[in-house]
Amino acid sequence: MKIAVFSTKKYDKEFFENYNKDGNVNLTYFEVALKEQTANLTQGFDGICTFVNDKLDKKTLETIHSNGIKLILLRCAGFNNVDLKVAEDLGLKIYRVPAYSPHAVAEHALALILTLNRKTHKAYNRVREGNFSLERLRGFDLYKKTVGVIGTGKIGSAFCSIMLGMGCKILAHDAYENEDLKEKGVVYVSKNELLEQSDIVSLHCPLTDDTFHLMNEESIQKLKKGAMVINTSRGALINTLDILEALKDGRVGYLGIDVYEQEEKLFFNDLSESIIKDDTIMRLISFPNVLITSHQGFFTNEALKQITNVTLSNIQTYLNGTSTENEVSYSLMHKA
Ligand code: NAI
Repeated sequence: MKIAVFSTKKYDKEFFENYNKDGNVNLTYFEVALKEQTANLTQGFDGICTFVNDKLDKKTLETIHSNGIKLILLRCAGFNNVDLKVAEDLGLKIYRVPAYSPHAVAEHALALILTLNRKTHKAYNRVREGNFSLERLRGFDLYKKTVGVIGTGKIGSAFCSIMLGMGCKILAHDAYENEDLKEKGVVYVSKNELLEQSDIVSLHCPLTDDTFHLMNEESIQKLKKGAMVINTSRGALINTLDILEALKDGRVGYLGIDVYEQEEKLFFNDLSESIIKDDTIMRLISFPNVLITSHQGFFTNEALKQITNVTLSNIQTYLNGTSTENEVSYSLMHKA
């Protein structure tokens, strides 16, 4: 089985080499992302392995299919970057890693909150320069604050548990109410109630047609003045231009994002010597109350090990012809 691995970083290769020791699978690594312009690299392979910012749109899928690709291995949970309908019509099998470490992402959301609130990143730099002043480092107690969690699946529920541990009141919004969370004290409310009552709103739902620009001018207007917004899910859950305006007028008091609408042109790359042409992200970076990390929520040893092992086992499942809950397809996702 010959697999072309796209968007490969050093750590991806390191983990695959470590866990594919018997060499059952023949992996070839490409640093470039998979997109229409790079799809021809798939000639001579049986399958591809891709990550969050590879673009598996109609044209790319048609090219890889005509090159003989039968199998798509997503080394991530989200599949919003794949045209599932086209993939199904072409007979391409798709597998994902549904959960790698929900705790990794939930803990990163907490890191964003604590950093924005207590400004440890600024304190670190100040103290290194001999500046021991506390001016402008003041934060607030998380204890007894209200945290709104949109999406209480695997990551959202891990995040609820963490924030309950901090002594916060948790309001949640999800079509499926988690009984365990309710027993722990989480209260399910409508999206509007959540937006109106929360000091911190954290997004943990997937990007779908329904959730695209979930945070837009209208929903942002409902937030408490000065609320904190955290997004570790997918960039397009937030209308970036709308939140920029809300940051300027103080409606949003803090923004912590690990994902960004146009991230595929930026994230995972060292652009420190380049001219960044995305004026929106540069404007966001200019705010003292905005913290951006480049999609590192998942990035722990435990998650990388899980991604690697589940991806390798997805290949075996495909070869054995057995069924798995890791399979993704248009029909499976639209089953009543
Ligand atoms: P999950 O599938 O376990 O949970 C998602 C939850 O969102 C479900 O309970 C679902 O009912 C709910 N939901 C769907 N539409 C909703 C809506 N309109 N309003 C409220 N809730 C809604 O997914 P999981 O594993 O918790 O992951 C959540 C998201 O986190 C993923 O879709 C992905 O975009 C993102 N993610 C980010 C990572 C990072 O490194 N920053 C790593 C892994 C995932």
